[in-house]
Amino acid sequence: MANLLKDVTLNDSQPKTLLLKKHIEYIAAYGTNKDEYEYCMTEYLRMSGMYWGLTAMSLMNSLAQMDRQQVVSFLKQCVDDSGGISASVGHDPHLLYTLSAVQIACLLDCVDVLPVDKLVSYVVSLQQPDGSFVGDKWGEVDSRFSFCAVNCLSLLGRLDAIDVEKAVEFVLSCRNFDGGFGSRPGSESHAGLIYCSVGFLSITGKLESIDGDLLGWWLSERQLPSGGLNGRPEKLPDVCYSWWVLASLTMLGRLHWVHKQSLQQFILACQDAETGGFSDRPGDMPDPFHTLFGVAALSLLGNTELAQVNPTYCMPQSVIDRLGLRPQQLVV
Ligand code: FPP
Ligand code: ZN
Repeated sequence: MANLLKDVTLNDSQPKTLLLKKHIEYIAAYGTNKDEYEYCMTEYLRMSGMYWGLTAMSLMNSLAQMDRQQVVSFLKQCVDDSGGISASVGHDPHLLYTLSAVQIACLLDCVDVLPVDKLVSYVVSLQQPDGSFVGDKWGEVDSRFSFCAVNCLSLLGRLDAIDVEKAVEFVLSCRNFDGGFGSRPGSESHAGLIYCSVGFLSITGKLESIDGDLLGWWLSERQLPSGGLNGRPEKLPDVCYSWWVLASLTMLGRLHWVHKQSLQQFILACQDAETGGFSDRPGDMPDPFHTLFGVAALSLLGNTELAQVNPTYCMPQSVIDRLGLRPQQLVV
C-alpha cells in the first residue's frame, strides 16, 4: 500500500535559532506602507491582524515600539451602534473582531475606550436558544463563536451575562467518538475547533467533562516525522497548528505528549531569515498570523527569550494575571 503520510522535509539551510530581532522588525514594519498589496487584501480581517501583531510584539517584549494612539483611535472607529466591533472602519460588526478588539484593549490596558455595556449586550444577542452562538446577525452557528463569546466576556469580567450552562451543553454536543470536537454536532474533529472547545471549557471551568487521555492521544497523533503538527489526519504540518494543538495539550496537562525538541526545530525552520516573520511551512511567505502562533508556541515550549503566554487566551500571562483571571488547567 502507498504511504499516505503527508509531510515536509527539513534541510540544513533553514534557521535553527530564534531570529528575534528580525521578527520584531517584521511586525513593526507591517502595515507602515498602507498601499502594499498584501496589506490591502487583508482589510476584511484588520482588527484580528492587529491582535496578532500586538500580541506577538508583547511576547517579544517589544510592545512599546507600536503606535498606541493609532491603535486606540482605530478601535474607537470600529465600534458599531449595536456595541459590536468590525474588522475595519465601515465594515459590519462580528463576534470574531469584537473579541480581537477586547484582546487589544486588554493588552494596551485601555478597556475604557470600549462601550463595555453595549458590547456585552451585543454578545448576549448572538446566543441562540440551544446555547450556541452565531458570529453575527446573519451567520451560521459554529463552536468557535462559543469560545469567542466566553473569551471576550471573561476578559471583561462579564461571563454571567450569558446562559453559561446552555453554552456548555452546546459545546459538549460537538464532541465526537474520537474525543475531538468539530464546529457543530456531528462535524469532523479539527485541531482548531478542539482548541476553541478546550479553551471554552477552561474559561467556564468544565475541563473535567473531557476524557483527557482520549483527546490527548488524538492531539499527540498530530505530530509528524518532521516534528511539525497538522490539524487533522492526512494533512500537512502547519505552524499555526503548533499553537492550536500545543495550547490544547497544555490546558489538558499533557504538553509532554509531543516531542518538544523536534517540534521546536520545525517551528524554527518556518522563519524567514531575510524578511523576518514565520510562514505556515518552511520556505513559504511569512505573515503576522503564523508569526504570532509560531512565537506563542515557542513560548509554550519554554523559550526564555520570550514572555510567557497563557494557553487559554493566547495573551501574555502578565496580562491575564493583571486581570485576575485563572482559567482552568488539568494537572495529570
Ligand atoms: C483553523 O481554521 C483554525 C481554527 C478553526 C481556529 C480558529 C480560532 C478562533 C476563531 C479563536 C481565536 C482566538 C484566539 C484566542 C487565538 P481554518 O479554517 O484555516 O482551517 P484549515 O487549516 O482546515 O483550513
Ligand atoms: Zn496555518
